[in-house]
Amino acid sequence: MRNKITKAIFPVAGLGTRFLPATKSVPKEIMTLVDRPLIQYAIDEARAAGITEFIFVTSRGKSALEDYFDHNPQLESELQKKGKDDLLETLKSTNMDSGQIAYIRQHKALGLGHAVWCARRLIGDEPFAVILPDDVIAAEKPCLQQMVEAFEETPGNMVAAMEVPMDKAKNYGVLKVAKDHGSLVRVGGMVEKPKDNPPSNLAVIGRYLLTPQILENLSSKETGAGGEIQLTDAIAKEITEGRDVFGYRFQGQRFDCGSKAGFLQATVAFGLARDELRDELAQYLHEVVNIDKAAQ
Ligand code: UTP
Repeated sequence: MRNKITKAIFPVAGLGTRFLPATKSVPKEIMTLVDRPLIQYAIDEARAAGITEFIFVTSRGKSALEDYFDHNPQLESELQKKGKDDLLETLKSTNMDSGQIAYIRQHKALGLGHAVWCARRLIGDEPFAVILPDDVIAAEKPCLQQMVEAFEETPGNMVAAMEVPMDKAKNYGVLKVAKDHGSLVRVGGMVEKPKDNPPSNLAVIGRYLLTPQILENLSSKETGAGGEIQLTDAIAKEITEGRDVFGYRFQGQRFDCGSKAGFLQATVAFGLARDELRDELAQYLHEVVNIDKAAQ
């Protein structure tokens, strides 16, 4: 099996119920942090990691996503006429070449594992990445690139892992650590959303490098936590069958943009990271905090 990963799956077929009513007509992945949709952060991270084929697993109501990656000749020529070169460059950087991007439908939201399985024919017999765009990671070296570099040295299934408070572990897939090598952890078991006694506080977040055997495991379509077909279960099967699964403690800050609080935190963090916004936003935040303190 080759070690080079060039394909990534972006499962975006979820219902996004936590953002209703917005997600009634706007895909969650089109919601913006400052001025870039969540999906753009995910694409940029994938590109930095050497991904050249982008596979979207979509569902009804997600056509805004397909439009987003299309060329927009009318807008481009307007910007050109007006001499707005910077904006034109920004716009062009979002275009995808024909054939670089593929869309597959998941007809029913049966779970993340099922969404990944829907892309099986486009993956074939090679390792691949899975990126959940609602996990946005601010990092000096993009998270997926860190993982791809680790994978090239130590091939095997690899999941991004992050320490969370013990009482929050029940919201995640959680790793049982067999051997801790620091940034790399050999995984001895995995549980999706453990109701009690999580095996550790090392949680899986939305970046995966997977071997094609995972797609085979998913084809049994067994349901797990929440009655959904879980990707975690298909990865855990690799462990029971004696194949390697690693957790990778990435460097960077992860924002859960699938939740309202996480999305708002990311908006503040990415706003403060922009030179043109920092001072005004920081001043506003100070004022709000002071008013809050005074009210107490
Ligand atoms: P979430 O658990 O965040 O679910 O899915 P969701 O539907 O997007 O959002 P809520 O919980 O209703 O607010 C994690 C990722 O898996 C994808 C989602 O699009 C998201 O990227 N997913 C989930 C699918 O593609 N298909 C599914 O059947 C389930």
